Amino acid sequence: MFEERLKQKLAVQKEQGLYRNPPEVSEGDGRTVKVAGRTLINFASNDYIGLGRSETLRKAASDAFMRYGTSSSSSRLVSGNASVICEAERAYADYFGYEDALFFPSGYQANLAILSTLFGPDEMLLFDKHVHASTVKGMQLGSAPFRGYRHNSMSHLEKRIKGATGNPVVVTESLFSMDGDTPPLADLARLKRTHGFRTVVDEAHAYGALGEGGRGIARGVADVALGTFGKAMGLFGAFVLLPSLYREYLLNFASPLIYTTALPEAHAVTALAVLSEVEQADAQRARLAHLSRRLTHLLTDRGFTVCGEAHILAVQIGSEERAHGLVKKLFDQGYFAFTARFPTVPMGQAIIRLSLTANHTEEDLEGFSDTLYRLMG
Ligand SMILES: Cc1ncc(COP(=O)(O)O)c(C=O)c1O
Repeated sequence: MFEERLKQKLAVQKEQGLYRNPPEVSEGDGRTVKVAGRTLINFASNDYIGLGRSETLRKAASDAFMRYGTSSSSSRLVSGNASVICEAERAYADYFGYEDALFFPSGYQANLAILSTLFGPDEMLLFDKHVHASTVKGMQLGSAPFRGYRHNSMSHLEKRIKGATGNPVVVTESLFSMDGDTPPLADLARLKRTHGFRTVVDEAHAYGALGEGGRGIARGVADVALGTFGKAMGLFGAFVLLPSLYREYLLNFASPLIYTTALPEAHAVTALAVLSEVEQADAQRARLAHLSRRLTHLLTDRGFTVCGEAHILAVQIGSEERAHGLVKKLFDQGYFAFTARFPTVPMGQAIIRLSLTANHTEEDLEGFSDTLYRLMG
């Protein structure tokens, strides 16, 4: 029976410590969340520089929705290709230093579109084995063959390039969503010069938070880059930065864009306000970097193995059950953290993923690391 199969699979998830049952969050201000009437310090938000709660942006968004209405009511390919969206895309391309840009309703859809549409049997996608699920799904949906290389290993990538059966396209992230580390971008650029391949770099966790003016860290090496509005940019949706020819191609052939309702005009107007906020956020970026270093030190001083070079830190735990148990206990002690378990990370390598925002206080970090240390006991 169909229902029996669903129940059985859910029971196996529970047995393996993989069951997901996200708590209902009633309120949040970026630094904290309220769950079941209790206020917890939130180490599981991607609002890295606090823009998601910015008064200026909230006002810009509400004015934009009042002026332009609440829906585009159509696909981009029908009557949803509004001038303000095209204008905002040009502004994004200029700001991030690419020829063109294309907005998507979500980063998930953007990755599906890029990887399944642009590349075909003449190419071979060589992907870092830790790339996001949306990238993996995009490759699976497309017709280009794909092969993984060891996480951040440029020697393994070079081996794959030499053995590629089509024109290689390297697919990676600039700041990995779970590990919080970055590929050796200078080495990747050197390999690119030597072998002349194309690259797709997901900068979802870097734009707004890293690089000069929040422009990310991979411009020197990326041919196509993906940014999400829903993280440091404090909004929702996504943008892809790319050559104009690729944009034209995606508008003609990318199902995840053609057969979906466009983001509303008010989104594009708000996205322009986001850009000016991001440009002026040097102080928040400096604070975020400071807090990230501070939490890394606090945790490593207490003997934890911590991976992560910026505002995403992965505390290595190992067993799924142990990680899940710890997160539950942290919750009881007033801290909201997220455990990444299989299939998000490999089996038996569960982590507690911590993400910081510029709004955290030093006391938040000290309280958290003391509590985790006590709980590990
Ligand atoms: C690296 C990466 N790429 C893409 C996405 C998808 O973006 P979105 O949330 O806008 O769908 C995410 C997370 O959500 C991500 O972490």
